[in-house]
Amino acid sequence: MSNNQAPKALETAFTKTVGCRYPIIAGPMFLVSDEKLVAAVSNAGGLGAMPSLNWRSTAEFRAAVEKVRALTDKPFAVNLIVNKSAPRVDADLDVCAEFKVPVVVTSLGSPKKVIEKMHAVGSKVLCDVTTLKYAKKVEALGADGVVAVCAGAGGHAGETSPLVFIPHLKRHLKIPIVAAGGIVRGDQMAAVLMLGASAVQIGTRFIASTEANVHQDYKNAIVNAEPEDIVLTRKLSGVPASVIRTPYIEKIGVDLNPIESFLHKHEFSKRAMKMLRFYLGKVQLEKAVTVPTWKQVWGAGQGAGLIDQILPAGQIVHTLMNEYYSASIPAGGGGSGTTGE
Ligand SMILES: Cc1cc2nc3c(=O)[nH]c(=O)nc-3n(C[C@H](O)[C@H](O)[C@H](O)COP(=O)(O)O)c2cc1C
Repeated sequence: MSNNQAPKALETAFTKTVGCRYPIIAGPMFLVSDEKLVAAVSNAGGLGAMPSLNWRSTAEFRAAVEKVRALTDKPFAVNLIVNKSAPRVDADLDVCAEFKVPVVVTSLGSPKKVIEKMHAVGSKVLCDVTTLKYAKKVEALGADGVVAVCAGAGGHAGETSPLVFIPHLKRHLKIPIVAAGGIVRGDQMAAVLMLGASAVQIGTRFIASTEANVHQDYKNAIVNAEPEDIVLTRKLSGVPASVIRTPYIEKIGVDLNPIESFLHKHEFSKRAMKMLRFYLGKVQLEKAVTVPTWKQVWGAGQGAGLIDQILPAGQIVHTLMNEYYSASIPAGGGGSGTTGE
């Protein structure tokens, strides 16, 4: 099938819950996902997602939701960071409820408030999880699904391999599981669906898309990266985040120095350090993502090593589905992997 034709729909527990054609979320990405990328993915049959914090204020976020609505009539998602230090969560949640944003994905703190408010307007809530314990908690609170953030993912990666984490969650949960981490091709998607996932959440692959609103150098760095070029750094937010090992990352190192470590651990300074790191990390990332700079701080997961081309986001979704449908295990093994493009 050519990439111009839409592959046939794939119904899973996830697509039935969310109402999209394919079980593919373009994961929310700080400073990367904008209205155009989200709408392109949703229009192609996936679920485009964006973090509300990509906009400087709730008013700007509100305008972004209106813009996505104007660009697509398909479901899309907003990511809300719900921990105590997230200052805008209540106001941004009000916007999500006002516009009946079809899906909200929560990260960090308790999703209780979000679930109550979004369910009241008929929307769905997915929650990022990295452990079974937390997944059970959000299921009990009424979450409509979990995003299982596994080792190798872009952003704040989980610690458990998807080969273990997906079947582990599947044994204990009734709600749909979305696998996230390292997925860029349809045969990988087939593999995690076989393990018990009913959708995938993909970040890094969509940075190397025509629509992603980031500098060309960043997209090229993803195309040129090998899996082993991805390292975890604590320098951005205090907790490990996946980045490409650029000369700048090598220069500044990936660990906190002893004083930073101390301040991050102690009650009296923990919160302030978190906020300071968040602010400094944001400034640094913003620069690296949008303008040419030698201070190259580029977030990406290990899947970067499998990405060879920058493509339109809709084509990425359709290629994934075509690869998914043609994935098979040849006699004698060996996989059905293609180039991913
Ligand atoms: C640059 C970057 C920024 C991200 N920002 C966020 C974010 O703001 N909120 C969130 O829930 N996940 C964030 N993620 C995680 C993605 O939504 C997704 O779960 C992850 O990228 C999946 O792994 P993959 O990159 O290997 O496909 C980010 C990922 C990347 C690469």
